[in-house]
Amino acid sequence: MARIASVITILFAGASLVAGAPTTSNHGSSPATEPDPKLAVSVKLNGATFVNKGLVGFGLIPSDFVESTGDSLGGIGSAIALKPGSFKKNRDGTFSGTVITQPDRGFNVDNTIDYQGRQHAIDFVLSPYYGDNNLTFADAQKTLALTYKSTFRYSERNNVPTTGLDALGVRAAQSGFSRDPLADPQLPIANATFPRLSLDLEGLVLNKDGSFWISDEYGPYVYRFDSTGRLVQTIQPPQAILPHNAQGELSFDSENDPATGRVGNQGFECLTVDSAGTTLYVMLQSATVQDGGDDKSTSRFTRLLAYDISSPSKIRPKLKGEWVVPLPQNSKGNTLAASEIHFISRNTFFVLARDGDGHGGDDNNSAYKQADLIDISKATNIANSKFDSPQFPIAKNGTLDRSINPATYVGFVNFIDDTQLARFGLHNGKPADATLIDAKWESLALAPVGDSKFPHDFFLFTAADNDFMSTNGIFDGVSFNAGLDNDNQFLVFRVTLPTVTAASLV
Ligand SMILES: *[C@@H]1O[C@H](CO)[C@@H](O)[C@H](O)[C@H]1NC(C)=O
Ligand SMILES: *[C@@H]1O[C@H](CO)[C@@H](O)[C@H](O)[C@H]1NC(C)=O
Ligand SMILES: *[C@@H]1O[C@H](CO)[C@@H](O)[C@H](O)[C@H]1NC(C)=O
Ligand SMILES: *[C@@H]1O[C@H](CO)[C@@H](O)[C@H](O)[C@H]1NC(C)=O
Repeated sequence: MARIASVITILFAGASLVAGAPTTSNHGSSPATEPDPKLAVSVKLNGATFVNKGLVGFGLIPSDFVESTGDSLGGIGSAIALKPGSFKKNRDGTFSGTVITQPDRGFNVDNTIDYQGRQHAIDFVLSPYYGDNNLTFADAQKTLALTYKSTFRYSERNNVPTTGLDALGVRAAQSGFSRDPLADPQLPIANATFPRLSLDLEGLVLNKDGSFWISDEYGPYVYRFDSTGRLVQTIQPPQAILPHNAQGELSFDSENDPATGRVGNQGFECLTVDSAGTTLYVMLQSATVQDGGDDKSTSRFTRLLAYDISSPSKIRPKLKGEWVVPLPQNSKGNTLAASEIHFISRNTFFVLARDGDGHGGDDNNSAYKQADLIDISKATNIANSKFDSPQFPIAKNGTLDRSINPATYVGFVNFIDDTQLARFGLHNGKPADATLIDAKWESLALAPVGDSKFPHDFFLFTAADNDFMSTNGIFDGVSFNAGLDNDNQFLVFRVTLPTVTAASLV
């Protein structure tokens, strides 16, 4: 019953917005309609000034929420994307739209499970809060009211469902498992007797025709599905990124690190598309093994790849760009790995880098969670060079090859700023209750503010992956207790992106 009650709370939170957003303001009783300049933080990238105008929205979906298939909704923040055409500004000053969310591989505290890949549609109403008084946690949730709508699941040939089980097997290359005109590459599967395609889903790009691209951690591969959730195409990355064992064979499991290639559970976390919809960008969470990825002190040099997807059904997507991104490090010199990227404008992207601390994480006190900026205009394009072979590391033991110029990396939107969190009834560090910021933020989406005075202003959405942590969870009809209730939190910031206007964004 508690579960149903929380569903009703969400719906009422949405309904209450009709009566208006929280009215706490900077001056007396009238609500602030613009961000307080005192809260703004600016940074420079390649001569342009980017501004973080602060946190303007917060919402959550309770940890025990059950979706239409009967399973816990779970860690939906692994990837988000705004449904094309859904975002709009309403007459009352609020904004509404539909966010498509994608969990990774299901509840896997004990073992990986046979969780079919899926995506969920969630409607939202954003009532930006610009005041500098602290809202209560209950009022803060009215600033981004979320209403779950629907779910659909992913499959390959003959409607065979995908699985979240660790990829202990390799399916030989054979045509027909997708509708790619060329043969499929070897694919990660659960095992020889249960040869389902194993997906640990992390990135999501929605196309206007209803088809979509996803990136995964096992391959690490990029897959295209049609609007009904059926696999149509696979992109296999260069040999340097594929996980090979000491014998040079593909080995996709996530428990044992390969001899070369992506580290287990550090696959393609990051996926985005340019505004024309013709170039797909995908990035590894941290360095490959040969590039120093087997140790956090040497794993900062990760790779960003660009594929031409201008005509994916006719011409197999071709690697056309590859750059090195120097990830930030914490005070101990350990890499803060990347959980998402998002295209801003030519050569400029957001990179979400963070530690694993916060609610549901290793420690209550997080030290780094940011949507940072990169510029690749001066970075060396190493696509289709010797560095695409595992014999030629870009960074032996974490020292970057002198022939390579990496991307420019600049810190930007801090998710754990104490003042900003307090405005929304949230905090970082003890106590570990529902108002503690979630540990695992893994997604980004952008929508225009539509303010004629600020044509470069956008809302930056992000959502957390709660790792299905609920004391009242359910999967495949069987209940589970993860020992913790970790809600799925969403944050919305307002940012000025001088290199882009609403019209030039998808
Ligand atoms: C908001 O909360 C923070 C943290 O508790 C506190 O330091 C600050 O004084 C509060 N601000 C206001 C305007 O009450
Ligand atoms: C293959 O995976 C299935 C599903 O997890 C499992 O039941 C089976 O025992 C596995 N077979 C082998 C040979 O490991
Ligand atoms: C690799 O780099 C680490 C950290 O910089 C250093 O401690 C270690 O000695 C290096 N190992 C080798 C084999 O160079
Ligand atoms: C987090 O805070 C709670 C108190 O709210 C405490 O019981 C727990 O030990 C803390 N966790 C860590 C890892 O410090």
